[in-house]
Amino acid sequence: MKIISSSLLLFIVINIIFVNLGQCQQPIEYSSCQLQSVGSNNINGYVLISNYSGASSEKYTVQVVASGFQNVSSTVYATVRQYGNLLNTNNPVFGYNPNDEYNCTVPGCLGSTTFTTTSMNWTQTFTTPMFNLSPGLKSVVGRIFSLSTSPFDSNYIIAQCVLGIGNPQFIPSTSPMASLNESTNYAAISEIPNNGIQNGAVCYLQPTAAYPLVNGTVLITEIKNIIIGSNQPMGLNIIAMVNGTDGQIGISINQFGDSLTADGSSTGGVWGLSNQTHGLPTNNTRLYGDLGNICVYYNDVAYYNWTTPYIGYFDSIPNLLGRSIVIRSKPYTTSPTYDGSIMATCVIGLRENGNIPATKFNPNTNNAAPTCFPDPTTSTTTGPNTTTSTTGSGSDSGSFSSITTPFMKLTILLISVLSFILL
Ligand SMILES: *[C@@H]1O[C@H](CO)[C@@H](O)[C@H](O)[C@H]1NC(C)=O
Ligand SMILES: *[C@@H]1O[C@H](CO)[C@@H](O)[C@H](O)[C@H]1NC(C)=O
Ligand SMILES: *[C@@H]1O[C@H](CO)[C@@H](O)[C@H](O)[C@H]1NC(C)=O
Ligand SMILES: *[C@@H]1O[C@H](CO)[C@@H](O)[C@H](O)[C@H]1NC(C)=O
Ligand SMILES: *[C@@H]1O[C@H](CO)[C@@H](O)[C@H](O)[C@H]1NC(C)=O
Ligand SMILES: *[C@@H]1O[C@H](CO)[C@@H](O)[C@H](O)[C@H]1NC(C)=O
Ligand SMILES: *[C@@H]1O[C@H](CO)[C@@H](O)[C@H](O)[C@H]1NC(C)=O
Ligand SMILES: *[C@@H]1O[C@H](CO)[C@@H](O)[C@H](O)[C@H]1NC(C)=O
Ligand SMILES: *[C@@H]1O[C@H](CO)[C@@H](O)[C@H](O)[C@H]1NC(C)=O
Ligand SMILES: *[C@@H]1O[C@H](CO)[C@@H](O)[C@H](O)[C@H]1NC(C)=O
Ligand SMILES: *[C@@H]1O[C@H](CO)[C@@H](O)[C@H](O)[C@H]1NC(C)=O
Repeated sequence: MKIISSSLLLFIVINIIFVNLGQCQQPIEYSSCQLQSVGSNNINGYVLISNYSGASSEKYTVQVVASGFQNVSSTVYATVRQYGNLLNTNNPVFGYNPNDEYNCTVPGCLGSTTFTTTSMNWTQTFTTPMFNLSPGLKSVVGRIFSLSTSPFDSNYIIAQCVLGIGNPQFIPSTSPMASLNESTNYAAISEIPNNGIQNGAVCYLQPTAAYPLVNGTVLITEIKNIIIGSNQPMGLNIIAMVNGTDGQIGISINQFGDSLTADGSSTGGVWGLSNQTHGLPTNNTRLYGDLGNICVYYNDVAYYNWTTPYIGYFDSIPNLLGRSIVIRSKPYTTSPTYDGSIMATCVIGLRENGNIPATKFNPNTNNAAPTCFPDPTTSTTTGPNTTTSTTGSGSDSGSFSSITTPFMKLTILLISVLSFILL
């Protein structure tokens, strides 16, 4: 009986994880994002873009549903910005460059609206759009969608979000696109360096409803050439700094860059192919999105640093841009299941050159941290691995063994009590 029910549970869990990997429904190009207010507004809502439309002459549909415009009386412009960095305060409109092949030929690219109510439900269709959602230079996935009260100047942005690869299963039921909810998604981006575009990505973690204190920053940088004299391997370097957690936590790249749900479920399963299986980063048949665990803390910030060529680069397919980074409350183990709930998510956006937030810690010079995981059968190994520290340079090294989190303190206490009893 027990065996049957655990097999059933395993079956259900595996199905939940892989449900988005092996679908065979009609493909659509679909992107979504959850608007965040900028400045002294309380605007919230969502943006949906899809290549579906009722009329065959129309190629793309953009829908913006948002409220909280009490402080806005002027025309509002809907624009896509060049970069997907929410903290970039000088973010040009995508393509608005006389030397660029992809001009905005109308102010704001997507259009503008003047409204007298405090909410908007704006649908725009495009027959010959300047943008698309498929892999390539014209894709808006991984860039910022903004609402602003002046068409180009990013100082006038009143709400914004990073356009991600949307999850068709979570299209709001009131949307004209709702009938696409059983489709698969082809939205993607593939960037080519040396085109004025950067070679990095950024993701600002937002808490899910159950974990309001968790936030953080993830920086992804392409390392395509060996830096002589450095021990930095080639691949995508992923640095995550997470606030508001303790103990070991899991980190993954999920299939969809979709933040339309408060519990993070619209991010779907861990990103991967149907012939890949869940595993720790040391496993060479793991899912693309299996990033492992974070187990190093410094001053209460959970710190992750890992470089892997397994996921490809920004100009290749597979491509992580527009997908999501997900933080889980429990670490990965070797079992094919994911424990814990989603604490924070963010949509991976394009990052401009330079403007890289400082990462002053260097806790993981040996790439070992992502593979840390507890032995579930013993209670004393479930805390952060306090011996995973650094020999790196800088005045911060040597401080990582400091006992900073309550969880670590509890673990140390448990170990002490156990040793006392055994002695
Ligand atoms: C939308 O895009 C997908 C993938 O590119 C394509 O297969 C599909 O035919 C498109 N649908 C429409 C209505 O254009
Ligand atoms: C309008 O702006 C004021 C500050 O200028 C702010 O306190 C208030 O919350 C805003 N109202 C809304 C609905 O955004
Ligand atoms: C782009 O804009 C410039 C002027 O800003 C114009 O001369 C040029 O024709 C435009 N190119 C396209 C492809 O629209
Ligand atoms: C937005 O407008 C469409 C059609 O005009 C309507 O069907 C839909 O219910 C509206 N959505 C919301 C969230 O109000
Ligand atoms: C998909 O949309 C249909 C029609 O709006 C609805 O009946 C169905 O429940 C939706 N399915 C999902 C998985 O949301
Ligand atoms: C952690 O939270 C503090 C306080 O809000 C903030 O200043 C800091 O930027 C956060 N760290 C990251 C990595 O987001
Ligand atoms: C980020 O997390 C820290 C630690 O939980 C918290 O103190 C801070 O208020 C959070 N910042 C935001 C902007 O939510
Ligand atoms: C997994 O599938 C992908 C594409 O579907 C294929 O390119 C790859 O070779 C497969 N890998 C293995 C180990 O079968
Ligand atoms: C990788 O994971 C698979 C599935 O869990 C497992 O069968 C295989 O032994 C693992 N390989 C390594 C090298 O750990
Ligand atoms: C990340 O680890 C690599 C070694 O794998 C090291 O060269 C690099 O300096 C580390 N980065 C940071 C910001 O700590
Ligand atoms: C903790 O880190 C040390 C040093 O890197 C390593 O030898 C040990 O296996 C790690 N323990 C766990 C449980 O990850």
